[in-house]
Amino acid sequence: MRGKQEAKRKSAPKLWAVGGGKGGVGKSVISTLMAFWLSRMDKRTVLVDTDLGGANLHTLLGIKNPTRTLNDFVTRKYASLEDICVNTEVENLRLISGAGGILSLANPQFVQKVKIVQSLFRLDADYVVLDLGGGSSFNVLDFFLVSHQKIAVLTPQPISIQNAYAFVRNAVYRRLSQLSRREPSVQALVKTAMDPKNALKVRTIKELFQLVQDSDGTGVVEGLQEEIEKIRPAVIANMIRTPKDKNASRIIQLVAEKYLMVHPSDPGSVVYDEQIDKSVSDMVPLTKLDQSSEAVASVYEIVMKLM
Ligand SMILES: Nc1ncnc2c1ncn2[C@@H]1O[C@H](COP(=O)(O)OP(=O)(O)OP(=O)(O)O)[C@@H](O)[C@H]1O
Ligand SMILES: [Mg+2]
Repeated sequence: MRGKQEAKRKSAPKLWAVGGGKGGVGKSVISTLMAFWLSRMDKRTVLVDTDLGGANLHTLLGIKNPTRTLNDFVTRKYASLEDICVNTEVENLRLISGAGGILSLANPQFVQKVKIVQSLFRLDADYVVLDLGGGSSFNVLDFFLVSHQKIAVLTPQPISIQNAYAFVRNAVYRRLSQLSRREPSVQALVKTAMDPKNALKVRTIKELFQLVQDSDGTGVVEGLQEEIEKIRPAVIANMIRTPKDKNASRIIQLVAEKYLMVHPSDPGSVVYDEQIDKSVSDMVPLTKLDQSSEAVASVYEIVMKLM
């Protein structure tokens, strides 16, 4: 029994990253509710605000001024990420606040990022949920790509669907670029094809792979394809108002399969819920929301599927 418990304690936590597109689609709301449900299922959970530029996740948990933030870890004020975790009012749920307003950190150096990623995997937890900032900077994509569960949130608006697709596309190209680091000619092709208006007229990953193969990249393509297929993002449509809105996830699935050779899953959607909007504007912690409301309950269903 004891050995079992020890083994459990030592195994690395599962990382879930919540990203996708630009601001305001509900990444912070969804990641907070996911972390809440995981902790309610007796999973020791740490919610991390990796939005290093505009950190505000703590407010969704009712914490006004976090005393410790990621910045304290990067500047070595605290040696371990454990030291900057703060308890929340919810049992099993701890928070690592982002380094809000610390501009030097909005673009952390490579070494700092590696240090953060390594330490995340060493946290004493069952699950670590990362709330990624908006956009597709390399930092955001790298946190996304190292995570076990890669979650992309979008809303039914066409612009949001486009953003979420662009986000997944950027992640795929970022991964291809990492994988071809030791093959400069392949990496050059990847970098060219990354531009949607590239001169080579490559529009799909399939076309890119063909080009790699034709340029004597025999044997490389299979390995790359295998890795890309592993990306499998989970697409969550948020702020759904009509049944038709749910098509947003389906569109991403179809386009990603056709152009990127990735097969996103659709673990469910979340309806628009005034209660959520009101809680956020009134700064009432999301953990106090009515758990039987459709939106909050659907996040529970999604978490069950992703586990
Ligand atoms: N299901 C929902 N129902 C109603 N309102 C929602 C829902 N999800 C999110 N919102 C509202 O949308 C706004 C944006 O949500 P949130 O802050 O989670 O977005 P974000 O993607 O994290 O944005 P950013 O990129 O700026 O961090 C909030 O005011 C929140 O109240
Ligand atoms: Mg946010």
